[in-house]
Amino acid sequence: MPSVYIKTYGCQMNERDSEQVASQLVAKGYSLAPSEAMADVILLNTCSVRDAAEQKALNKMENIAAETRRSRPDVVLGFMGCMAQSRGRELIDRLPDVDLVIGTQKFHHAPDYLDDILAGRRKRIVDVAEEAGSQSTIRDHLLNGNGHKAVSAFVSIMQGCNQYCTFCIVPYTRGAERSRPIEDIVAECRELAARGVKEVTLLGQIVTSYGKREIGMKDGKSAFVQLLEAVHEIDGLERIRFTSPHPKGYGDDLVQAYSRLPKLVESAHIPVQSGSDRMLKAMHRGYTRKRFVSIIEKLREVNPRMGVTTDIIVGFPGEAEADFEETLSLAREAQFDNAFIFKYSPRRDTPAAILPDQLPQEIKEERNARLLQLVNEIGARKYRACVGQRVQILAEGPSRKNPARMMGRTRSNKIVVFDGSERHRGQIMDVNVTRAGSFTLYGDPAIINLD
Ligand code: 5AD
Repeated sequence: MPSVYIKTYGCQMNERDSEQVASQLVAKGYSLAPSEAMADVILLNTCSVRDAAEQKALNKMENIAAETRRSRPDVVLGFMGCMAQSRGRELIDRLPDVDLVIGTQKFHHAPDYLDDILAGRRKRIVDVAEEAGSQSTIRDHLLNGNGHKAVSAFVSIMQGCNQYCTFCIVPYTRGAERSRPIEDIVAECRELAARGVKEVTLLGQIVTSYGKREIGMKDGKSAFVQLLEAVHEIDGLERIRFTSPHPKGYGDDLVQAYSRLPKLVESAHIPVQSGSDRMLKAMHRGYTRKRFVSIIEKLREVNPRMGVTTDIIVGFPGEAEADFEETLSLAREAQFDNAFIFKYSPRRDTPAAILPDQLPQEIKEERNARLLQLVNEIGARKYRACVGQRVQILAEGPSRKNPARMMGRTRSNKIVVFDGSERHRGQIMDVNVTRAGSFTLYGDPAIINLD
């Protein structure tokens, strides 16, 4: 049977989609190649959120095509995911060595399409159509992809987004909001727990809109909170996370869920994008700075240890120095544990791309650097404040930077590196934090005194 190598760009949703394709291929008898040089099939699962992500995948495919077409002309090359969806056939016109283009509603057809191409029945396949029910096809897991049992798993609960922020390509690449039923998601999580998974991260482009149409409110609780409650019931599951919510749909029921559901760990990633109400309006975000700050205040009231992170865009069209200063002041006010900063990148089909007042690259760079410095200072202070504390972590496996050591995450989503071994993998354990590095903590496992 052939071997496949899948390279993933972009967000957790993309990682999850790649896992779906890989697990279906493994179920069919394919092996997972350790590198593209060893693979019979090379798939790039792409991201369109910024131009740089698209360029990376395009350059990569160009290099792969140049390399494989010389030495191994039978290797099958494919694009999947967001850029495949937004560019479709254009990708083959540009890179004629590409055999397969699979959009975001068609991942589950990858095995059949590869069969057809490998058997010579079809030469090229482009499928970027919509498919009813495709949100329910991302449900299979590869639980020992690298020879170890997974401790933490992503679970896709919905697809698409109806918010249409003016900078954002997601509604065009992922389509309209479609949610899976609560029972299906619970069954998937239960199966994961039975196979040893301790933590799930519920994924969607806008999870606060989960089940709005399909399920609706019940007893004053949104469909998303009903889902959290149902997943919380699962024995063996110890931790629940989710990403990403939207401030507009962040109701008090969700804030309260953090106090009622102990498995819902005290970590909140809430994209704010800007601290200026004028920019938030131009971005079509649907909330004010004041409303965002009040959500964070409420979350910290529920649990003062809440880890709060965000996404921020600098250099949106028309952003004046005064608007940017509002973003700086928001970062000071909100005291984020970390913030991911992005330079505005015009995206095809989005309203902001054709706004008149596009900012020069130098201004984007300069604002990015200023905000990054502030975010790093605040983050460093927050991480230093953990030194001397005892924190609970879930040990995930070897540290990526130093595989001789192990890593885990605190409930508030901070990485902790510690001296440990494989026997710690999957354990919920206490560690004493001894040192803080750049967005990393170092700690010693706490010895439990049993007398
Ligand atoms: N330019 C720059 N950053 C963007 N993001 C989304 N669209 C764009 C864009 N056109 C950022 C947002 C989002 C994160 C995933 O990517 O901050 O929250």
